[in-house]
Amino acid sequence: MSNILFIGSGHMSEAIIRALIKNKVYKPQNILVNDIVKSRLDYLQLTYGVTPSEKIVNADIIVLGVRPQDAWSDIVQQFKTNKIIIISIIAGVTIAQIKASLTVDIPVIRTIPNTLTDTGFGYSGIATDVNDQAVARQRSVTQFFNSFGKLEYIDESLLDIFTGYAVAGPNYIYYFYESLVDAGVLVGLSRDMAKRIAIENLHGAACMLQTSQKHPRQLLDINNSPAGVGIHSLYELNNSDFAAGLQRSVRAGVIRTVELGKKQ
Ligand SMILES: NC(=O)c1ccc[n+]([C@@H]2O[C@H](COP(=O)([O-])OP(=O)(O)OC[C@H]3O[C@@H](n4cnc5c(N)ncnc54)[C@H](OP(=O)(O)O)[C@@H]3O)[C@@H](O)[C@H]2O)c1
Repeated sequence: MSNILFIGSGHMSEAIIRALIKNKVYKPQNILVNDIVKSRLDYLQLTYGVTPSEKIVNADIIVLGVRPQDAWSDIVQQFKTNKIIIISIIAGVTIAQIKASLTVDIPVIRTIPNTLTDTGFGYSGIATDVNDQAVARQRSVTQFFNSFGKLEYIDESLLDIFTGYAVAGPNYIYYFYESLVDAGVLVGLSRDMAKRIAIENLHGAACMLQTSQKHPRQLLDINNSPAGVGIHSLYELNNSDFAAGLQRSVRAGVIRTVELGKKQ
């Protein structure tokens, strides 16, 4: 089995490592972890059985899991072979910036991983330049990404939009869920019952949208009889700022992603 090395073994790397092991994509001993904090390596070894590596060593895939403000440029200058693939999860740092720091021509895949890694749901966006597109579709790379959700190949120019919409996406759902539970409590249900009903409806409605192939408006029409309950509640939502508020929220997420990228 091939090796994978994580440089910068913080929260996001840990979530990916957990999914790789759970889905048997790598054995723990084939996962090498590097971090400037020794206690972090001890923790990961103890928790997951992965192999600490205090030096940067070669591996088939090297994941750059440091933050944009860390010394990623110094790190990539140490790579001396082109027999590796770099997968960067560093937010806002472009493929061109990484390639400009490399002293060897190494394929670079840039990704914005989703944060639902423990569930297998959620899309991660991955981008490469034209030369590396075949590399990005290699089995080892797709297995890596599929272990923590689904993958969407996108143009690098779409990564910021992808971050604000897809990666921040669970936040919108958590917020909607919390508001819905409060609505249940408002009309007199216990919080526990309101939570159970809301989560079931979220699952079920998502399933209906996926399996029925119907437009949401068609599903709404089926549920809303003349002068009935459904259409009366929808009337209030129609009168609210609900849709525009949600859309402004997504747009603010995208704008902030762009702002953070400019600070690099
Ligand atoms: N967390 C998320 O949900 C998420 C989602 C998508 C993308 N991302 C992106 O993923 C990247 C990592 O985020 P994170 O949340 O995992 O951050 P994090 O928990 O702070 O992890 C970064 C780790 O890298 C270590 N490090 C710093 N410089 C290093 C060096 N030169 N060599 C080796 N290790 C070094 C840090 O140590 P110190 O703490 O001592 O500096 C820290 O343990 C960021 O660019 C972030 O934007 C995160």
